[in-house]
Amino acid sequence: MELDMTRIPEHIAIILDGNGRWAKERHRPRVYGHRHGAFNLRDIAKYANSIGVKYMTVYCFSTENWKRPDDEVNYLMNMPVRYFKKFFDTLVTKTNIRYKVLGRRDRIPAALLKTLEDMEEASKDKTGLTLSLCIDYGSYDEITTAVKKIATDVKNGKIEPEDITPAMIEDNLFTKGYPKLDLLIRTSGECRISNFLLWQLGYSELYFTDTYFPDFNEEKLKEAIIDFQNRNRRFGGLNK
Ligand code: IPE
Ligand code: IPE
Ligand code: MG
Repeated sequence: MELDMTRIPEHIAIILDGNGRWAKERHRPRVYGHRHGAFNLRDIAKYANSIGVKYMTVYCFSTENWKRPDDEVNYLMNMPVRYFKKFFDTLVTKTNIRYKVLGRRDRIPAALLKTLEDMEEASKDKTGLTLSLCIDYGSYDEITTAVKKIATDVKNGKIEPEDITPAMIEDNLFTKGYPKLDLLIRTSGECRISNFLLWQLGYSELYFTDTYFPDFNEEKLKEAIIDFQNRNRRFGGLNK
């Protein structure tokens, strides 16, 4: 089956999972899998951009991933700094990809934060794919922060509780202004959400694949999109 180029999903999210198991199968340390995962992310983002996907939102590091051993956390906080420096040209200058970073910004190391903010700034006027890297991201944290902001507005008399709407909640999430999430992909065979985009997933199509992320290449992404194109989305209504 081929892609229907007239119905490319506008917003795809990916829980990139299985880097560690991919490395283990090769008798290599877990970080070897993270490195290959980063290369793969570059390749599939390029592909998504080339077929006209407008938003790709990827889960890179969760608010729970701090529980991992220090050496793995350190690698995950340092690798992108080296990686983006080395490939800045191919990742930013020579593409029309716009980079965004979603998540808390108060706990990641300063060098990583600077790298990520430089990428955002350098690509802010690009008109191709918006690639959002979710780092120190968790939905419980995101929604709690939104609730606090809205509660503060109520407390200060700016709004009444009756004025609170779903749109107001959306405006206080990291994904403010993003199109609705069409498709969520999780690699590696796990069938759970792990605190990712809980609100945004309201009416998304879900796709789970056994492929570990470093092997989830263009062809596999294309298969996921074709599968999506054969779904019957109803949004609670009836079919036309
Ligand atoms: C996904 O791969 C990357 C991160 C969560 C940082 P994992 O590191 O979770 O790999 P597995 O699930 O242990 O194989
Ligand atoms: C979810 O993967 C987080 C990211 C992909 C960044 P995990 O590997 O951390 O999820 P669990 O622990 O298996 O649910
Ligand atoms: Mg995992």
